[in-house]
Amino acid sequence: MLHTTANGRQHPRPSHLGRPGRWLRMLAAALLALAVLPLAQAEDGYELWLRYRPLEQAALERYRPALAQLVLPAGNETQRATRDELVRGLGGLLGQAPAVADVPSAAGAVLVGTPASLPRLAQLGLDLDGLGEEGYLIRSLDLDGRAATVVAANTDLGALYGSFHLLRLLQARQPIDALDLRQAPNVKLRVLNHWDDLNRHVERGYSGQSIWDWHRLPDWLDPRYTDYARANASIGINGTVVNNVNANAQILTPMYLDKVQALAGVMRPWGIKVYVSARFSAPMEIGGLATADPMDPAVRAWWRAKADEIYARIPDFGGFLVKANSEGQPGPQDFGRTHADGANMLAEAVAPHGGVVMWRAFVYSDEEPDDRHKQAYTEFVPHDGEFADNVLVQVKNGAIDFQPREPFHPLFGAMPKTPLMMEFQITKEYLGFATHLVYLGPMYEEVLRADTHVAGPGSTVAKVVDGSLHGHALSGIAGVANIGTDRNWSGSHFDQANWYVYGRMAWDPYLDARAIADEWLRMTFTADEAFVEPVLDMMMASHQAVVDYMTPLGLHHLMGRGHHYGPGPWVEGGPRADWTSVYFHRATRQGIGFDRTTSGSDAVSQYAPPVAEAFNDPARVPEEFLLWFHHRPWTSTVASGRTLWDELVHRYSRGVGQVERMQQAWAGLRGHVDAERHHQVERFLAIQRKEAQWWRDASVAYFQTFSGLPLPEGEAPPPHSLEYYKSLEFPHAPGDTQ
Ligand code: GCU
Repeated sequence: MLHTTANGRQHPRPSHLGRPGRWLRMLAAALLALAVLPLAQAEDGYELWLRYRPLEQAALERYRPALAQLVLPAGNETQRATRDELVRGLGGLLGQAPAVADVPSAAGAVLVGTPASLPRLAQLGLDLDGLGEEGYLIRSLDLDGRAATVVAANTDLGALYGSFHLLRLLQARQPIDALDLRQAPNVKLRVLNHWDDLNRHVERGYSGQSIWDWHRLPDWLDPRYTDYARANASIGINGTVVNNVNANAQILTPMYLDKVQALAGVMRPWGIKVYVSARFSAPMEIGGLATADPMDPAVRAWWRAKADEIYARIPDFGGFLVKANSEGQPGPQDFGRTHADGANMLAEAVAPHGGVVMWRAFVYSDEEPDDRHKQAYTEFVPHDGEFADNVLVQVKNGAIDFQPREPFHPLFGAMPKTPLMMEFQITKEYLGFATHLVYLGPMYEEVLRADTHVAGPGSTVAKVVDGSLHGHALSGIAGVANIGTDRNWSGSHFDQANWYVYGRMAWDPYLDARAIADEWLRMTFTADEAFVEPVLDMMMASHQAVVDYMTPLGLHHLMGRGHHYGPGPWVEGGPRADWTSVYFHRATRQGIGFDRTTSGSDAVSQYAPPVAEAFNDPARVPEEFLLWFHHRPWTSTVASGRTLWDELVHRYSRGVGQVERMQQAWAGLRGHVDAERHHQVERFLAIQRKEAQWWRDASVAYFQTFSGLPLPEGEAPPPHSLEYYKSLEFPHAPGDTQ
């Protein structure tokens, strides 16, 4: 039985109010309301960095007069999305919704749009050249004797991006009275890769299930999809690959294309194109063909027809991402063809519609290689110049596999005739899953700033990726998403920062990791300086910490087998040598490390000479990559003056110590942020502390069996035997392959 209250909502009508239990029930209801109330206002992280909570009084006094009226068109979906975001954002931050008008009529007008959409903007003679299709300018000016602000662009999408920038300025309490900003992205395709399976499992995902509710699509459009699109647009992400690179051909069937089409409809107003991962053997699996040979006319026709079918549904479909001939995935080599043959066949299918193919270079052959580090380069460099114009080769940041720290991939700079896309991992497969507080900004920055030297000094990876080094108009960056159904999206509050920094650096790969963390903290937590400064320090030190307690001095690939949770430096045997840890650390009684010098596997020679020479020399190689490139005696001396063995143990312990310092810093910040988020971060840091110690102890116990050396003075022995660490099993660790 329902009755309608004064505010129009319907509630069940209590039917026995006269009975004796009435007061008890009323009391119980009141208690329940009290218990539920805080939940209703939960600081659960759902709003990400788009929180828009009211600013403090001083900021309100500064901003309100300057942002009194919104003048903007609302004739299409992107324009309406822009208007709604500004109304929501300004309304929240300023505590009052701004007036919306068609023409400026008061002081403090904010004009948002393009010369075509807003005639008043066209009269201002703004210089929009060079802003392209996604750039914008934000300027303070005098309009008919009144102070105004314009957010102007050549396209509606540019105006949307500019609007998010304006909101960001307020969230960071920046002055807005003399603005003169111009921004355009350096990179064209700024894409998230979801490793999401159609059954909602997320490969290497640590934040719940896939947000794509395939079963209820296309009829039920979860409002979360819109919030996902908003969050991405706010940081400039303009593409999403919705399914796993280990692809299921079903995504290309009409039933699933209906669902992809529905998602594309949600993403479109926010400037986000949808892409799918294509399984190379799809013509055989869902097309009834006997082969998927890219040179077979029937196969080529099948892909062309498939592309036509997709574009008939989704005219702005982005294209295909492909993992081929890698880790058991089918590919052109199965038919005696090359990567270029395979990529070009798909490129031909999407080219008439303006689509692209992102062809991954994460390959290593099934035969045991002499060094997995060299394989992608060996397979791809000979094909430079053979790829069609709408193909990008997507290269992981390093040559092995998203390890805690890797030198930049030698392919960057080595294929000047091909646009190379960067692939970063945002999800932390090898960096402590979603529980460890590890800010990836410094890691992305380190790789993007690395100098390939291929065209002289200053030939940074960023310049390869943004196309400027070799003059490519097409450019891209991909990030393997850390997003799932967890209420906070990313599995932890601080992992939201990794999604954020990825997007910001995809837009501008020259940005500074610390500056981005600073803006993220102010938007996500608080602008209280007493909070921001110490937490910034924590974030900036966190990547070095995880490197120290997991894989110091260039060690790599030492994690548990399969699920990749926890230490497993002893992992050996199994189907492939290069899936073991012993293959990578090569510890013996004498020393440790992988000899990739000219007298070892010679992987160093895949880099340009100045880089190769430095990496080849144990005295010149950056110490963080010492054991990546060199096999060194336990008793050799390193920069600190310690022996290698002592330094290794020192670094493991240093990493644990840094986590302890993070715990202390965070404990001191109680009261500066809401209790709910403070509590979760605190508990997660405790997990991180425990697991960092476990990594340190297990690794030290294991490597000591090789070095045979005592622990340096003051270093505590591992509390358990090596056998104990080896015996630990984690059958249900999240994110494993299926
Ligand atoms: C890693 C990861 C796999 C993934 C692969 C890839 O090896 O563990 O789950 O499929 O990378 O990037 O294709």
